[in-house]
Amino acid sequence: MRKPLISGNWKMNHNHFEAIQTVQKLAYLVGKHELEATDVSIHPPFTDIRSVQTVIDSDKLGYALGAQHCHWDEKGAFTGEVSPVFLQKLGVQYVIAGHSERREIFGETDEMVNKKVASIQGHGMTPILCCGETLEEREAGATESKVLGQITAGLAGRTSQQIGALVIAYEPIWAIGTGRSATSDDAQQVCAAIRVCVAEIAGAEAAANVRIQYGGSVKGSNIAELIAMPDIDGALVGGASLDADEFARICKLGR
Ligand code: PGA
Repeated sequence: MRKPLISGNWKMNHNHFEAIQTVQKLAYLVGKHELEATDVSIHPPFTDIRSVQTVIDSDKLGYALGAQHCHWDEKGAFTGEVSPVFLQKLGVQYVIAGHSERREIFGETDEMVNKKVASIQGHGMTPILCCGETLEEREAGATESKVLGQITAGLAGRTSQQIGALVIAYEPIWAIGTGRSATSDDAQQVCAAIRVCVAEIAGAEAAANVRIQYGGSVKGSNIAELIAMPDIDGALVGGASLDADEFARICKLGR
């Protein structure tokens, strides 16, 4: 059974004071018993990670610490970048790789995403490998070729066991931050195609184990029908994860 994973991607929002407040509020709303059924990861900006780690550790909260990005090398002349070693030392468990904002705004290529996925796993953390199509690609009937191409490139060189252990996030670009989520049937169709693609690359066991999230305008009001789909194992949540009440509803899967 794949345990659902709800991930809050805060993007460039919340300073470290706001981060502490948000996590503390969330802790009142989503308790340990909820986390028995659902994994929850929080992906704050880099400058907040240490503060969030301290709250999670000192209050023994069951949330996993996440990051939004990292470099693939351990150290060197990469101004502005953050090493996977630093994240590992902070107890980060999940790192997003290849979010469409990083691909589109910061020019991340499939090759860079592939190196990041390898490095994140090489440092004992779990990548959340993102994929998704633009509205033009969807309207041109190119959704699956775009998404499966990104997945195939991102997973190249990984063993079946490594692929089974990671997380894939399907995030249609037109649904991110727009309030316009994909319908649960449309999201399911693409997530099912991703699982078939993983089976072709890495075998049936890896396909059965890999967790596939949907992302794009997920809210407390639509999580229940998304998570009910057989190939949707969780959600990557942007805007709605900034508000503890709304995110708590999502972590409780809309219940
Ligand atoms: P959204 O963002 O929930 O605000 O649409 C999702 C994401 O980009 O991960």
